Amino acid sequence: MLYRLPPCDLERWYSQFGFGARYNLSGSAAPSLTTMDLLHYAGPDAIAAYLELNLNYVPVDGTLRLRTTIAQQYATLTPEQIQVTTGAAEALLLLFTVLLHPGDAVVVQFPIYPSIYGLAEARGAEVRRWPILPNGQIDLDHLHMLLQQGKVRAIVLNHPHGPTGLLLTPSELMAIAQLAADYNATLIVDEVYRGIQFTDELTAPAADLGPHIVSIGDVAKPYGLGGLRIGWLATADTQVLDRCAEVRDYTTLCSTAPGEFLAAIALEHRTGILARQLAVAQQNRRLFSVAMTDHEWLDWSLPDGGFTIFPRSQLRRSTATTCHELYERYSVLVLPGEVFTMPGYLRLGFGVDPDQFAAGLERLLAYAAHVDRELPHAS
Ligand SMILES: Cc1ncc(COP(=O)(O)O)c(C=O)c1O
Repeated sequence: MLYRLPPCDLERWYSQFGFGARYNLSGSAAPSLTTMDLLHYAGPDAIAAYLELNLNYVPVDGTLRLRTTIAQQYATLTPEQIQVTTGAAEALLLLFTVLLHPGDAVVVQFPIYPSIYGLAEARGAEVRRWPILPNGQIDLDHLHMLLQQGKVRAIVLNHPHGPTGLLLTPSELMAIAQLAADYNATLIVDEVYRGIQFTDELTAPAADLGPHIVSIGDVAKPYGLGGLRIGWLATADTQVLDRCAEVRDYTTLCSTAPGEFLAAIALEHRTGILARQLAVAQQNRRLFSVAMTDHEWLDWSLPDGGFTIFPRSQLRRSTATTCHELYERYSVLVLPGEVFTMPGYLRLGFGVDPDQFAAGLERLLAYAAHVDRELPHAS
């Protein structure tokens, strides 16, 4: 199924450091919720229903209850056009297994969650990077040029974008969808940060724009429920979904009954939960802006969506060294740009309790003051 699977540096970093720091300012997900939080949202009968839940296998495509509530997020899709997966990670694996073959090319927005290009390479596909410009804009002419080189089976985007926080305008998304259609490519839009947006109007999901588009979602990022391991694929192309279900027979067979039950509750109460998680992200975004305004060591612009910000560091030490020192000496976890093959950048996440976030920022500033003599202006 996969040829040479490269290590996913981002996940390797988390496996080494992810659970050890007092102040985790690195994550890309909302603050986590508990089982009790969710059961409270669901009302007084939910606790008994959860305790009496049958722990048998669930259907390979997901329970109808979960697929129904997922489908309600799309204007045009029905529950039959949803495939539940074990997180967005399995959604990517199933889809790439079905779509990509040796000799194919895939255009991948860059930077992006590294397992996206790792999986594509492991399928034997040629990965063509489509970079986000330093000013945070996209270059559609460049995308067109990458498509003209031929053999492109799929274009992969992350929208809202992690780690930069870029939000496409509806017309930009339409233009990309049109280019994908023109070149007979599937447009895969990883929308795991959908719902966390700092602009007025929530962007429509991509899968509503045509049957050649697949949206990927999860309950990890916007809801803070990564431990449930529930994600999904959404598309009007049911042939692709059927083939993904066949691959799932070889990967996880199905999700867990408690995971699907609790994810369904979260999605049925999405408005309240998202408002709560968005408020946290907004508060931390403001805290970051206030704390960092007068400090030259980070060059940043605020994200329009998602839980992360991706500032450039002006320190002369590598960002990997900065992150190691922050971890060892200040118990602060920040992700180095190296894991995105973008040395010089740091990823900070807003999905943490604001008191913790503020305390972590103070430590970050204390660290920066300590190494201040190395700032370019001081040399
Ligand atoms: C953009 C993106 N897609 C997919 C995933 C995988 O998410 P999940 O935890 O739902 O498997 C991640 C995890 O960090 C991610 O950042």
